[in-house]
Amino acid sequence: MKYDVDSLGKMKNVIPIAMLTAYTCPVARCLENAGIPVILVGDTVGMVEMGFESTRDVTIEHMQYHVGAVRRGAPNTHIIGDLPYNSDRDPDVALLNARRLIDAGADSVKLEGPKYDVISHLVANGIAVVGHTGLTPQTAENFKKVGVAEEDAKRIREEAIGIEKSGAFMIVLEHIPSHLAELITASLKVPSIGIGAGSACDGQVLVINDAVGLGDYWPPFSKQYAHASKVILEVAESFSREVQRREFPDNIVKLNASGKS
Ligand code: KIV
Repeated sequence: MKYDVDSLGKMKNVIPIAMLTAYTCPVARCLENAGIPVILVGDTVGMVEMGFESTRDVTIEHMQYHVGAVRRGAPNTHIIGDLPYNSDRDPDVALLNARRLIDAGADSVKLEGPKYDVISHLVANGIAVVGHTGLTPQTAENFKKVGVAEEDAKRIREEAIGIEKSGAFMIVLEHIPSHLAELITASLKVPSIGIGAGSACDGQVLVINDAVGLGDYWPPFSKQYAHASKVILEVAESFSREVQRREFPDNIVKLNASGKS
C-alpha cells in the first residue's frame, strides 16, 4: 500500500514514521523492500552524491533526474521531491517546478522556510507540501543547531505553526533542541519529522549516505548503521589485486542477494 497524505497524517500519535532519503533506483528499491513508508529525494544529493559544497548548487533538472530514478526503484512508496534553492522563489515559479517534480514521479514536494504564500498556492493547486523549519540549509550560513536562544525558538515555533496553517501535511524539524521539537510536535496537528531534533518528533529522517556510511563526513546527529565506504574500498583493492595476479575473471563465484554463493 502506498502511503498518502491521509494515511501519513493518521500515523501521528500512533506509530513513528521512518523516512530515509534516496537518490538512485537500486537504493530506492532496497528501501521499498524494507517497508520504509516515505522516501525523501532531498537536495542533499548535491552534497552527498554530486560533490557540491552546498545544496544551493542543485537545480530542478538534477532533482527531476533523481526523482525519476527513485520512482522507478520504488513504485509503491510515497516519494517527496525537494524543491531546490530558488526554485520556489515565488508562488508561480514554485508551482511550475513542483509540477515538474510531480511529473517526474514525486507524490509531494518539500520546501524550506516560512514561505506561507508559496505553500498555500501549491496546496490550492493540488500539490501536497511538506514544510521544513529549524536549520534550513539552502539559506543557512552554517550548520550549527538553531532555536537555542529563546527568541529563535519562538520564531521557529511560529514558523512551524504558520507552515501548518498554510496547508503543509508534514513538517521537517532540523537541528533544533529536543525540548523545542517536543513543544512544536505537541502544537501541530500534522506529523513532525525530526533530523537532529530528538526523539519526541512524530518521525525521523536520515540521509541514506550517512546511514550506510558512504561518505567521509557525517553530521553529529546521524547514525552509521554500516560502513559502505569501507566495503567499496575493500572491493576495489581485491579486484585490483586479482586483476594484477590474473586470477580474475577465472575465479568468478556468483553470489546471491544475501551474499551467499
Ligand atoms: O535534502 C534533504 O535530504 C533534507 C533532509 C536533511 C531533511 O532536507
